[in-house]
Amino acid sequence: MEIFRTKTVEQSIRDTEEPEHQLKRRLSAVDLTVFGIGVIVGTGIFVLTGRVARDTAGPAVALSFIIAGIVCGLAALCYAEFASTIPVAGSAYTFAFATLGEFPAWIIGWDLMLEMALAGAVVAVGWSGYFNSLLNTIGVNLPKFEVLGVEVNYPAMAIVAILTVVLTLGIKLSSRVNLTIVVIKVAVIILVIIAGLFFINPTHYTPFIPSPEPTAAVQGLDAPLIQALFGITPVAYGVLGIFSAAAIVFFAFIGFDIVATAAEETINPQRDLPRGIIGSLAICTFLYVAVSLVVVGMQPYKQLSEDAPLADAFRAVGQPWIASLISIGAIAGLTTVVMILMLGQTRVLFAMCRDGLLPRVLSKVHPKYGTPARITVVVGLVTMLLSGVVSLSELAELVNIGTLFAFVVVSAGVVILRKTHPELHRAFRTPLVPVLPILSVLACLYLMMNLPVITWLRFFLWMIIGVAVYFCYGYWHSRVRGWRGSAPKQPSV
Ligand code: ALA
Repeated sequence: MEIFRTKTVEQSIRDTEEPEHQLKRRLSAVDLTVFGIGVIVGTGIFVLTGRVARDTAGPAVALSFIIAGIVCGLAALCYAEFASTIPVAGSAYTFAFATLGEFPAWIIGWDLMLEMALAGAVVAVGWSGYFNSLLNTIGVNLPKFEVLGVEVNYPAMAIVAILTVVLTLGIKLSSRVNLTIVVIKVAVIILVIIAGLFFINPTHYTPFIPSPEPTAAVQGLDAPLIQALFGITPVAYGVLGIFSAAAIVFFAFIGFDIVATAAEETINPQRDLPRGIIGSLAICTFLYVAVSLVVVGMQPYKQLSEDAPLADAFRAVGQPWIASLISIGAIAGLTTVVMILMLGQTRVLFAMCRDGLLPRVLSKVHPKYGTPARITVVVGLVTMLLSGVVSLSELAELVNIGTLFAFVVVSAGVVILRKTHPELHRAFRTPLVPVLPILSVLACLYLMMNLPVITWLRFFLWMIIGVAVYFCYGYWHSRVRGWRGSAPKQPSV
C-alpha cells in the first residue's frame, strides 16, 4: 500500500544535502552528552522523586529508577544503532520512515509531539513553580494575572519566549548556554548527594519496600492499566508499586533519545552519537539512584514534599541555605530541559515538513543563523500557549506513554532494518539482535501497561486526531509518494 511506502536511507541522507533545507554540522560527542544531560536531569529528579516515593514506592523508589534506567538503556542501544546508521534530523520519525513507511512514520512524528512540545510545557510550568518559590523566599510575590477568568502562568510563558529567541539564533549559542547551566545543575545534584550523606538516618530505610496498601489515589481511571485489566485491586507500595513508580519516574530519563534528533548537526555522527546517547544516560542513572537513596534516607518517605522534595529535605534537617542553592540549581536545570525539548521538537517537525507531511515552507533554514527559524517560532508559540494556561502535572504520564511508544517502534525498527538493509554501514551495532530489541519492546510495553487507564484514553484520542490530520494534509502533499504541494492528484491507496 502507498501509505506504507518507505523512504530509502539514501534518500533521507540526500535530502540533508539540499542547501535551502540543510542544517550545519557543528556538534561533538561532548556537546551531545551535555545536550543529553541538559534535557534529562529535570522535573523527574527534582520534583517527581518525592511524590512517587511518598505515594507509590516508598524508599524503594531507587529501584524504580534502576528499572526505568534499564528500560531506557535497552532502548538507547537501539536508538544508537539507528542514529549512527541514519544520521538525519528527525529521530524516531526518520527511523520509522526508513523501516515501516510513511504512515507509521507520521504516527511516530505526531506521537513525538507528546514527548517534546507537551513535556516542554510541563517542565516550563514546573520551572515557574520553583521561580515563584525562590522569589517568595526573598519576599517578592508576583501578582496573579487572569484572562477571561483563566489564570495565566506568565513566568512560564516568559521563559519559553526567551528560549525561543536563543534557539532561533543558532544551535552553537544554545549549546554554550546549555553547557553553563548543565554544570550548575550537576554541581547541585552532587551537592545533594554529598551533603545529604551527613543527614541520613538509617531507620528511614526500614522497611525498604513497604507492604502493599490499597490507596484512594489509584482507583478507577487512575488505576494502572495492568491492574485494571487483570482485576487486581489497585495498590501502592510493594513490588507492584515499584513498577508503577518506574513508569512515572521514567519521565526523569526522557531526553537521551533527543540526542539522536541532533544527528544531522553532529560533526561525526557515526562515532559520537552512540557515545553521546549512552554516556548521558549512564551518568544520569547513577545520579538518580544516588539522589533518591539520599533523600529517602534524610526524611521518612511519607513526609517528603510534593513540589520541591530535594530542597525541602534539607529544610527538614535544618539546612535552609542548602535548600535555597538547590532551588537555584533546579531553576537552571529546568531551563535547559525546556530548551532542549523545544529543540528536539523543532528538528522532528523540520524533518516532517521537509518530507511534505506538514507545510514544506516551514522547513526553510534561516540564511544567517542556519536554524529552522520558522518552525522554531511556531514551536515556541505553541509551547508558550500550553505553558501559560494549563497545569500539567498529570500530563507527565501522557508524555511517558508517548515516549515509550516511540521506543517500541525504534526497537522493532532495528530488527526490521537489519533484514531490509543488511548492507548499510552501522558504526554502532546493537548487541544481541534480535533478542535485545525484543526485550526492549517488551520492557517498554510493560511500563506502558503500568500507566493509568485515563492516560491510555488520552493517548488514543491524540493519535486519532493525528490520523485525521494525515489524511487531510500529509497524504496529499507527501514528497516521498510524489504528490507535491499545490497539485495533488487523486491517490490510489
Ligand atoms: N527528563 C526530563 C525531566 O525530568 C524530561 O524533566
